[in-house]
Amino acid sequence: MIAPILIGLGLLCLGGSIALTLAGIRYLLVRPGKAVVAPAASASAPATPVATVHLEGIGTLALEAGVLLNTLWEHLPHAECQSGECGGCKMKLLEGKVHWIRDPVVEINRQTHILACSCEAAGPIRCATP
Ligand code: FES
Repeated sequence: MIAPILIGLGLLCLGGSIALTLAGIRYLLVRPGKAVVAPAASASAPATPVATVHLEGIGTLALEAGVLLNTLWEHLPHAECQSGECGGCKMKLLEGKVHWIRDPVVEINRQTHILACSCEAAGPIRCATP
């Protein structure tokens, strides 16, 4: 006689718990007074091109910020000074342009070669190790 009453109360508590849980989830997802702002649509804005460096024999890599050595350090094991003195990061520039951020100390033909520690890419470039 009492069992159906207890089962009914149990089901009522279970239903209440589920309702409260769903209400809590809804509150967390859609808080009152907080407008959901969609990220600005950039359908008309051109995507920022990812600058790349193609190193012959290695492949194309996305450029890190700063000098080329930031991207290529693991492929230029003789780059020791990081200041344009040792020549260990010397590369032949095959395509593209760079900005020299410091004058090289080591003798180098700046028309054909660059120092990864002293140059920043001015766009996509292609180069080779000498
Ligand atoms: S690391 Fe020495 S010249 Fe670039």
